[in-house]
Amino acid sequence: MSFTIALNFEDGITRFIQCNAGEKVLDAAYRQKMNLPMDCSDGVCGTCKCHCASGDYALGEDFLAEALSDEEAAARQVLTCQMIPSSDCVIDVPVASAQCKTGITTTDADVVAINALSDTAIELVVRPETPLHFLSGQYINIQIPGTPHLRAYSFSSLPGSQEGRFLIRNVPGGLMSQWLTQRGQPGDTLTLSGPMGSFYLRHTVRPVLMLAGGTGLAPMLSMLETLAQRQSQRQITLLYGVTSDVDLVKTEALDAFRQKLPGFRWLPVVTDAQSACPQRGFVTDHLSDEMLNQGEVDIYLCGPPPMVNAITMALRERNITPAGFWYEKFIASQSAAA
Ligand code: FES
Repeated sequence: MSFTIALNFEDGITRFIQCNAGEKVLDAAYRQKMNLPMDCSDGVCGTCKCHCASGDYALGEDFLAEALSDEEAAARQVLTCQMIPSSDCVIDVPVASAQCKTGITTTDADVVAINALSDTAIELVVRPETPLHFLSGQYINIQIPGTPHLRAYSFSSLPGSQEGRFLIRNVPGGLMSQWLTQRGQPGDTLTLSGPMGSFYLRHTVRPVLMLAGGTGLAPMLSMLETLAQRQSQRQITLLYGVTSDVDLVKTEALDAFRQKLPGFRWLPVVTDAQSACPQRGFVTDHLSDEMLNQGEVDIYLCGPPPMVNAITMALRERNITPAGFWYEKFIASQSAAA
C-alpha cells in the first residue's frame, strides 16, 4: 500500500510523490529525488517543518519540543522526518521547488477534441503521455503552439484521468482562442507544464459554497468530480454566474452531479435583465444567509477580478468570515489564472 503525497512548494509548483506504508515523508521524497529541507533527520532541529493542509498521519513521539511544539503540532505543523502518512496528504513546503532540487513538470499531450460549447466558451480535451496528477481546482500552463507564450487554465476533469479537460474563454483576438478556433485539430500536440496553484479542494466536513463566474466553472467541475468519487455527503451549493443565457454551459453535467452527490444543488445566475432565469443579476445578489451558514462554510470562488472583489466586499459588509475561503481570479483578456 502507498499514499499519494502532494508537495506544494512556495513558488506555487506542486509535485507528487508516493509514500509507502510506514515510510516517512522525508525518506519518500528523497527516494524520489526531491530533497526536502532537512538537517538532523532525527526530530531535533526543526529544519524540516512543514504544514499538512489535508490528510491523516502520525508523528510519533521521537522528536523534541524545540523542533515542534504542542501548539504547532495542534495546528498541523509537521516534521517531515517524523511524519508517517496514513492517507493521501497535501503538504505545504515553505521553500521554492528549486531549493529541493525539483521543479515544474512538463509533458506533451495530444489534442483529443476542441468543442465550441457557446460563443464564449470552448472545451479542450487532451490526452497526455501519462495521466495528469493535480489537486482538484489547480491549473496548468499550456504553451500556444508556434509561440513561446503560455496560458494558464484550470482543469475541469478528475485528477489522474486519462484525459485532461479545460474550459477556455473564447477571447476575441486572444492567442489561444485564435489557435483553438482557427488552427487547432485533434492529433495536434500541446506542451503542458504544472500543476500549480493553492486553489484546490480541502477535505473538511463543512458545507461547500462554490461561486463561479463564466469559465470559472472549470475548477468547480473538477472539485465536484472529486467529491463524487469520494461519495461526499457534504452540503454543496454552486452559484454559476454568466452574462446571458447562452453563456451557460455544462448544464447537463451539473444536473448529473445531483444524482451522484445527495447534498448538491446548483443555481444559474444571469446578468441579462431579459433572461428567463429565476436568478437574475449578479452572484452577490443571490447569496443567502442559509448558504453562508454564519460563516461555518468553505467558500471556493473563481471568476474575473470584479466578481472576486464584489464577493469579498459583500462578505465583509455582512460581517461574515468564512471558516474556509479560497479564490482564483482569472484575467479574461489573457485567459490566465492568476
Ligand atoms: Fe531535523 Fe526533521 S530534519 S527535525
